Amino acid sequence: MLQEIIRKVGEIREKWEEERRDIPSLKVLEEVRIRFLGRKGLLTQLFTTLRELPSAERAEAGRLLNALRKEIQGEIERLKEGLAAKAEAERLKREAFDFTLPGSWRRVGRLHPLTQVRLEIEQIFMEMGFDVATGPEVETDYYNFEALNIPADHPARDEWDSFYIGEGVLLRTHTSPVQIRVMKSRKPPVRIICPGRCYRRDTPDATHFPVFHQVELLWVERGLTMAHLKWIIEEFVRQFFGPGYEMRFSADFFPFTEPSAQVHIRREGGPWLEIMGAGMVDPAVFEEVGYDPEEVTGFAFGLGIERMAMLKYGIDDIRLFFQNDIRFLGQF
Ligand code: DAH
Repeated sequence: MLQEIIRKVGEIREKWEEERRDIPSLKVLEEVRIRFLGRKGLLTQLFTTLRELPSAERAEAGRLLNALRKEIQGEIERLKEGLAAKAEAERLKREAFDFTLPGSWRRVGRLHPLTQVRLEIEQIFMEMGFDVATGPEVETDYYNFEALNIPADHPARDEWDSFYIGEGVLLRTHTSPVQIRVMKSRKPPVRIICPGRCYRRDTPDATHFPVFHQVELLWVERGLTMAHLKWIIEEFVRQFFGPGYEMRFSADFFPFTEPSAQVHIRREGGPWLEIMGAGMVDPAVFEEVGYDPEEVTGFAFGLGIERMAMLKYGIDDIRLFFQNDIRFLGQF
């Protein structure tokens, strides 16, 4: 009966009016939609009863039902838009990123300046055809002194007085013992550099530290002269420091070279700084390692890595290298 339909439509509308007021989310909205418009929804069920009406009333009842359905559908669409916008706003708020916050970062480590300088020196000499050789930091008296033509009572030992670990065993005072080890194990020609740590019983000051680093160079072959030595050093200084540096050779004495020289360099106008001892390998050393001094000649030098770094970077105190102050180390 039409009357009955009108009443039910009124009921459903009332119910709808009540429910639509309080829909907090899209999920609830969908539940409500199903309850009214779903396959078994209140309105849908009412549609199925149309069949039972006399045909004269059916059109009018259908119009009423359709009107309500349209109304509810429209309202649901509007609510859906509102809720979707609200959900989107909440998502943006939740996922918002504050670009003004300070970033989190990890400190990146780097090589110690002395390591950097050592690698740079190695690179230059390797390109000139030298091999890198190493030897122990704990040496015997024989390699550190005897074989280098420094007998037990030789005054040169005073200068290199060191840390003794036991009878005839010490922390090496220079990298020169590596020369001996290499020559004893190879036949000439020999073309090596030996970088490494050395120890001396020095009181620390701006240019001395009991632990320091040297690079030894040794070239033994037929026909080498002091001119070759000078060229190698000049070339090295040019490559390592670049232009604008002056170099000076002066006479010196080392028991294992004859003649011996010390090499100073300076930035134009700056103070001279000794960077190495050098010389032609003494025949006594060749004899000790089993080379024939009538057959081969050679030259060698030992240069201080700290001093090279100090000159290059304008560092005025060697102790800075060993204090592990990140403010200093971070500058290189
Ligand atoms: N070993 C020397 C030192 O520590 C430096 C040196 C001088 C090394 C002359 C050499 C050399 O190879 O030929 O003071």
